[in-house]
Amino acid sequence: MEFFLDTANIDEIKRINRLGLVDGITTNPSIIAKGNRDFEEVIKEICSIVDGPVSAEVISLTADEMVEEAREIAKWASNVVVKIPMTEAGLEAVNTISKEGIKTNVTLVFSVAQGLMAAKAGATYISPFVGRVDDIGEDGIALIQRLKQTLQNYQYDAKIITASVRTIGHLESAALAGADIATIPGSLLPKLWKHPLTDNGIEQFLADWEKVPKKAETLS
Ligand code: E4P
Repeated sequence: MEFFLDTANIDEIKRINRLGLVDGITTNPSIIAKGNRDFEEVIKEICSIVDGPVSAEVISLTADEMVEEAREIAKWASNVVVKIPMTEAGLEAVNTISKEGIKTNVTLVFSVAQGLMAAKAGATYISPFVGRVDDIGEDGIALIQRLKQTLQNYQYDAKIITASVRTIGHLESAALAGADIATIPGSLLPKLWKHPLTDNGIEQFLADWEKVPKKAETLS
């Protein structure tokens, strides 16, 4: 399973990248706004740190404008992926730019039907938002399972990015469902490797180690 980081925070990206856990990055306009930096500048910096795909989202709403914006964003770096919202205009834009070799991530996907449309239009990645689906009382992980099965049925190449991941349970269930990728907020990621029993275990081992006779003590 690939891990993307759902952040534009450079320090966070560098820190997690040192662990070998970062296969790519996703951003959205809300994430970019938090960093209070120029969009192009921050995406170019992230692309220079991370080798894998870095998603940068268009903000236009018409197909022609999305295509124009996507062509511009695609020039920023060889590993940039253009994130396009799941709308009629978005599908038209994906259909156009995917034929030009521009990689796309269709975002704000909340149903199997939307995912299927995105795959058929030529999306490289499809991002179902599990947390937001749970928020409206539906089952986000079931969406991942059903979309995975649907894409397999018709052998689409599009990869599923499990997005809006809020809990360890989301990540584990997405992995069990066979999602290709999960994009994880920097705040959640440390919780994936931390466990209170690990911390207790270390504390106990170190306390016991103090009781082991040291060489000087054994000789005297
Ligand atoms: C990823 O591509 C999305 O931008 C992100 O996962 C959305 O997460 P949220 O629902 O927690 O804002």
